[in-house]
Amino acid sequence: MPREIITLQAGQCGNSVGQQFWEQLCREHGINRDGNLEDFATEGGDRKDVFFYQSDDTRYIPRAILLDLEPRVLNGIQTSAYKNIYNPENFYIHKDGTGAGNNWGMGYSMGEQVQEEILDMIDREADGSDSLEGFMMLHSIAGGTGSGLGSFMLERLNDRFPKKLIQTYSVFGEGDVVVQPYNSMLSMRRLTQNADSVVVLDNGALSKIAADRLHVQAPSFQQTNQLVSTVMSASTTTLRYPGYMHNDLVGIVASLIPTPRCHFLMTSYTPFSGESVEQARQVRKTTVLDVMRRLLQPKSRMVSTNPSKKSCYMSILNIIQGEADPTDVHKSLLRIRERRLATFIPWGPASIQVALTRKSPYIQSPHRVSGLMLANHTGIATLFKRMVTQYNTLRKRNAFLEPYKREAPFRDGLGEFDEAKEVVQSLIDEYEAAEDPNYLTKEDPPADEDDDKRVA
Ligand code: GTP
Repeated sequence: MPREIITLQAGQCGNSVGQQFWEQLCREHGINRDGNLEDFATEGGDRKDVFFYQSDDTRYIPRAILLDLEPRVLNGIQTSAYKNIYNPENFYIHKDGTGAGNNWGMGYSMGEQVQEEILDMIDREADGSDSLEGFMMLHSIAGGTGSGLGSFMLERLNDRFPKKLIQTYSVFGEGDVVVQPYNSMLSMRRLTQNADSVVVLDNGALSKIAADRLHVQAPSFQQTNQLVSTVMSASTTTLRYPGYMHNDLVGIVASLIPTPRCHFLMTSYTPFSGESVEQARQVRKTTVLDVMRRLLQPKSRMVSTNPSKKSCYMSILNIIQGEADPTDVHKSLLRIRERRLATFIPWGPASIQVALTRKSPYIQSPHRVSGLMLANHTGIATLFKRMVTQYNTLRKRNAFLEPYKREAPFRDGLGEFDEAKEVVQSLIDEYEAAEDPNYLTKEDPPADEDDDKRVA
C-alpha cells in the first residue's frame, strides 16, 4: 500500500523549488512532459504513487498544491514545458494578486481569509489517497507568503490532520529582505510547534556551495534550486525505491529525531552533477569512504552554522546511491570512527545509519557513488541564535513594524512576536541542553502539549 505524501508549495521560493523537484522526479521515474510513462520506463520496482497519482487516462499527476498570493511564478509554471503534469485545480493564486509584500502578517491573514478554498483542495487530495502518510511543505521563511501563509497552513494542517506527519523544506534567507528577522522568527514558532521535521536550507550556504564547489559565482536561483531539488530527490529515494528500511517518512523521521522538539535537520550532498551547473559535470573517482567523509565536512552543509566545541551530532542518516556494497559501508564506518570524524551526543547511540538505495535506471550519472547526509546536529542552534540577534536589533528600535501592526495577528498588540521569540529561545536552550551528558536524567522539561502527536 502506498504511503502517499501531499506536497504544498507556497510563495515564490516554494513554487520555484517545487517546479524543479517535480521535473526531477518525472525524469527519474520516466514520466514525460505530459505525464505519460515513457516507452523505456518499464523497469518497475519504483513507487511512483507516493508522490503521483494516475488520472483516468493513466497520466501521472503530482500530489502537489501550488499556492501563491501573486501570479508570476505560478503563471510561469503554467506555461512551462511540464505544465501538463499538474492538476489545474490545484493552483491557488489570490485574486488580488498583490503578494504579501514581505510581510508575514499579511501572508498569515490572507491565508486566514481564503482558507476554505485551500483546505478544499487539500481535502480533495487527501481523500484521493489510500493511506496518506503526511505532508511536505516547500517555502522560504524570509518573505511574506511562504512564511506567513506557510505558517497559517502548518497550523491548519496540524488541526485537521493531527495524526499525519508534516515535514518541511524551509529555505532561510540571506539578508536580502530587511524584515527577514521578523518573518523568520514568526515562522520558526510554527516550524517548532506544528512540524514534525524541518529540513533547513539556507541561501547563504547554498550560494557558498555553488561558489566553492561548483565554481559558479553569483549563482542564479535556478542553480541553487537545482541543489535543493537534488537534496529533495535524494532524501526521498528510500520512499520511491523502497528497500528493507527507511521506506516511509515516519521511519526516516523517527530514526533522526530522538526528542520531538529537536527536529531541525541539516543536509549535505556529494558529488553534485546536473544540467544547469556546468562545473558539476566534472567527474572524479568516488568511493563510499570518500563520499561519507565529504558528507561530514562542514563546508558541504547546506546550512551556515558556527558550531562550538561542544556541538555534536544527535543522529546521522546517510543515503548512499550507486555502486556500494555493505562491506564498503562497514569499512568506511570503521574508518570514520577510528579517525573520530563525527562527535555524537553523549547520551545516545553514537552511530551513523546508512541506507543503500537503488537509483533511477533512466538517469545516467557520471559518478559511481553519491550520497546525501541528513543530520540532526546541535550546532543548528547557532543559526537560531543569529536569528534572535538580528531580530533584537530590529525590535530594539521597533523598526519597520508599522505594516505588521495593520494585520490581524497584531491588531491587539505585538505579543505574537514575543511568544515567537520565547519559543525560539527555548528551542536553542533545548539543543544546548542536549549537549550535556545528563540531558535525559536532568529535571523534567516543561510539558509541551504539541508533543502528543510527535512520532519520535
Ligand atoms: P512575498 O514576495 O512577500 O509575497 O512572499 P514570498 O514567500 O513569495 O517570497 P519569497 O519566496 O521570494 O521569499 C523571499 C526569500 O526567498 C528571499 O530570501 C529570497 O532570496 C528567497 N528566494 C526567492 N526565490 C527563491 C528561489 O527560487 N530559490 C531560493 N533558494 N531562494 C529564493
